Formats: sequence, structure tokens, C-alpha cells
Amino acid sequence: MRLRHFEELGPVCPRCRTGGLGDHPLLLAVVERRSGDDIIEGILHCTNAQCMQEFPVIDGIPIIVPDVAQYINDFLWHITARDDLSAALETLLGDAAGPSSAFDSTRFHISSYAHDHWGEFDPEEASTAIKPGAVARCLNAGLDLLTAPLGDGPALDIGCSVGRSTFELAGRVGGLVVGMDLNFSMLRLARHILTDGEITYARRRIGLVYDRRAFDVPNAGAERIDFWVCNAMALPFPAHRFGALSAMNVLDCVPDPRALLAAFGTILRPGGVGVLATPYDWSNQATHPTGWIGGHSQRGISRGAAEPQLRALLRPQGGTGLRLVAEVADFPWHVRMHDRSTVSYSTHLVAVRAAGDDEPA
Ligand SMILES: C[S@@+](CC[C@H](N)C(=O)[O-])C[C@H]1O[C@@H](n2cnc3c(N)ncnc32)[C@H](O)[C@@H]1O
Repeated sequence: MRLRHFEELGPVCPRCRTGGLGDHPLLLAVVERRSGDDIIEGILHCTNAQCMQEFPVIDGIPIIVPDVAQYINDFLWHITARDDLSAALETLLGDAAGPSSAFDSTRFHISSYAHDHWGEFDPEEASTAIKPGAVARCLNAGLDLLTAPLGDGPALDIGCSVGRSTFELAGRVGGLVVGMDLNFSMLRLARHILTDGEITYARRRIGLVYDRRAFDVPNAGAERIDFWVCNAMALPFPAHRFGALSAMNVLDCVPDPRALLAAFGTILRPGGVGVLATPYDWSNQATHPTGWIGGHSQRGISRGAAEPQLRALLRPQGGTGLRLVAEVADFPWHVRMHDRSTVSYSTHLVAVRAAGDDEPA
């Protein structure tokens, strides 16, 4: 966790915020390990005497979520996982743990997202039919739709996974950028790219067969970037803190997509800008159908279509504080599963701005 990001962005306690106790700044109370202005291990405290929640910084990644104990229990395997094993031993563990184990599901997700985010820099990837980099193309197409200047940030990349979109955002927006996600393993990889400009990951060939890939990747702008564990549904920032944000393919992953859009409207400064993409790939595990934007009730006015409902949420009185600037109805995005399978999506890409002070939410 870079001190500059912590001090300039001034995160507040998400537990107090979601509990209606107001915005209480966090304090860096304990530093166990540091490298220059980078806190590698430490503890943040909520400054509210009624709360005093502790938030750990582990492997340079602060964990700033409302229920820290629950998070640590859910992600303990990720937090304590080792990444120093040889490729041979890693594959042996994978065979022994088997499909659907925490080990296998983590490396599978990393294989898919590391491939799309960073595979274009892999010398061994050159000849494959699936062209990596879809998330970067999608984000840049969205940023190109914006009519207002992108400004000096700060900027937030929500659901950043292994970080490519965070670096792309930093390439287009001045000032500080934070990539945030709930998945600790993905952020650990993103942070490795940040500090070392290289990536090592297990790329799934088929079934439980994975090939280790290790290659250099560009990390321009690294000094302005940091990666934090935060829950998009409980952002630990005061209102109007950011000038720009991106949320690529996250809207259909959260329990309350409308509340997420409203949080974006709050977190952005008036006139701040954002890029959102979503394939509306709803699942009951992530979002109860009553929270879906479209995708149900085909007898209604929009006949179950999602796009008109999202547009309505991005109009004055839509309740989100966001305005639609421009959109692309179908932008290609894909997630590689293995050598013989890639899931292709068509995302709805929208560029938005936050309503001005004098405009209705
Ligand atoms: C479908 S993936 C998209 C990843 C990346 N943005 C991309 O387009 O390649 C959704 C990402 O959002 C993250 N995510 C899901 N729910 C979240 C939440 N409530 N807060 C923060 N991140 C979340 C997941 O861990 C995952 O990395």
C-alpha cells in the first residue's frame, strides 16, 4: 500500500459507513514491513472510538472491507497460499487437490483473466487464435466515447482482477489510480506486475493440465497505481472523492447492481466520468433475480431487455446520479477457459458522467 495513495485518497472505515456511523478516516497504526513509501505489512485502524476496527495490510495489499473477520475466513486460502513452488510441484498439488478444489478454482480463474489481461505480451501466445487484450480494448473504446476531458483523477478501477484495466486507466487519466477487487489472489498478481513488471501464472491447457508462463509486461505509470481489497458494495471513500472510474464486467457480479450504480454516482465528483461494461450475464449466485437489470419479466414494457432499463437508470431522476454520455450496444469480450474453449460475450459498453450539483439524481 503506497503511503501517497493512502494519504491523498483518505479511505474511511467501511464498517462505520455501512453501519450509518458516518465517515471516519483510517489511521496507519502499525507498520511491520515497508519498502520506501510502500507498506508491505501493517495494520490500519478506524479512528472512531466506538469502532476501532483493524484492517490488515498483507503483501502490500490493504484489506478495507466492512467485515474483516468474514473476509479473512473466506479468503484465508488465498492470503496464505504460497507462490514459490516449482511448476512441477504446483501441477502435482493440482492433480492431488482435484477439480473444484480451492486450489484448482483459483488457478483456473487466474488462468482465464491473466490470459486476457496480459497474454498479448506472452511470446508463446503469439500464434493462438484467441486474441488477448479484450478488456483493454473495451475500456479504451469506452474512454474514447467520453466527450469531457478525462482530467487528473484520482481514478478507481472497480473489479480490476489482475490489473490490466488499472494500468490502461492510468495511461489515460492523470493522478493516482486504485485498482480494487475482492479476490486477494488476483490482486497479488496485479501487485507483482506493479512492483516487478513481470507475470508468472499457470495457463490452463485442458482439465487439470496447466503450463507455467512467465514473461515481462509493461507497467508504465506504476508509481501512480495501487491495488486494494475493497467491496464495491461498501466503498471506503467519502462522497465525490474520484474524478474517473471504470467497472468492466462487474455490474452482473454484485448483489445489488442498482445500488452499485448509485455508489458510482456518489463516489464521483460532479462532472466526473466513468466507463462501464456488462454482458448482463446474470446468475442467481451473484444477484437475486429481483435485482437484475433486465433478464426477467418478459411480459413487461421492456420485454425483459436489459439495455433500456440501464439507460433509464442513467437518466435524470434515474436515481443513480449518473448520466449516459454514449454507448456501444455490442462490444466483444471473452474469457478463455482452456485450449479448446473460450466464452465469448457481447458487452453493453457505456460512458457516463456524474450529474452536476444542480442536476437531479
Ligand atoms: C467478471 S470479472 C471481470 C474482471 C475484469 N474487470 C475484466 O473485465 O476482465 C468480475 C471481477 O469483479 C470482482 N468482484 C465481484 N464482486 C465484487 C465486489 N463486490 N467488489 C469488488 N470486486 C468484485 C471479481 O473478483 C472479479 O475479479
